[in-house]
Amino acid sequence: MLKVAVLVSGGGTNLQALIDALRDGKIRDSEIVRVISSKADAYALKRAEAAGIETAVVSRKDHKDDREYGEALLKALDDSGAELIVLAGFLTILPETIVRKYENRIINIHPSLIPSFSGPGYYGLRVHEEAIRRGVKVSGATVHFVDEGCDSGPIILQKAVYLKKDDTPEILQKRIMEEAEWQLLPKAVDLIATGKVSIKEGIVEIDE
Ligand code: GRF
Repeated sequence: MLKVAVLVSGGGTNLQALIDALRDGKIRDSEIVRVISSKADAYALKRAEAAGIETAVVSRKDHKDDREYGEALLKALDDSGAELIVLAGFLTILPETIVRKYENRIINIHPSLIPSFSGPGYYGLRVHEEAIRRGVKVSGATVHFVDEGCDSGPIILQKAVYLKKDDTPEILQKRIMEEAEWQLLPKAVDLIATGKVSIKEGIVEIDE
């Protein structure tokens, strides 16, 4: 059983996709041992509670500096026994100590086809605003391992979503979630849990 901790900050629809996929057997050999939120009022916490999953809140503003915050978050992760950390709409930069300690065991979902519309400043609606402004015909989502950079770790899975003429950032965001994110993230966890993912010289290989 792969022990998974999920880090959230907001609505938690990606967390819900994981919970549903576990229930339906689409993610094998895994359990979510703890959901950790950077915000006390994140709706994602309600989703976790409804599914009977242990929750914790570790917020930067409740700690006097980055070091103390990093220690608290690391402790919350270590205490959960997590072997895989999933960032599912987690809006705080992960402290480097955690990235190093959990090297190749942290994954993130990003709402574009990396390397397009990724890196510093590209989060939330901004990603989709820029995609529409640039006039790309296809965007999508990416699940990747987290390294010390921003959206720069090895790519695990990607799925394309076509833009439509009347797309607004909100409409595109929703379609990318429905058509790509909610499928890719559970799939990535299942592939990792079943031992199908390896990294060779920064490139992910999937043995399906
Ligand atoms: C998603 O768009 C995800 O790609 C991004 O943050 C959003 C989280 O949404 N990293 P939710 O909290 O899972 O509903």
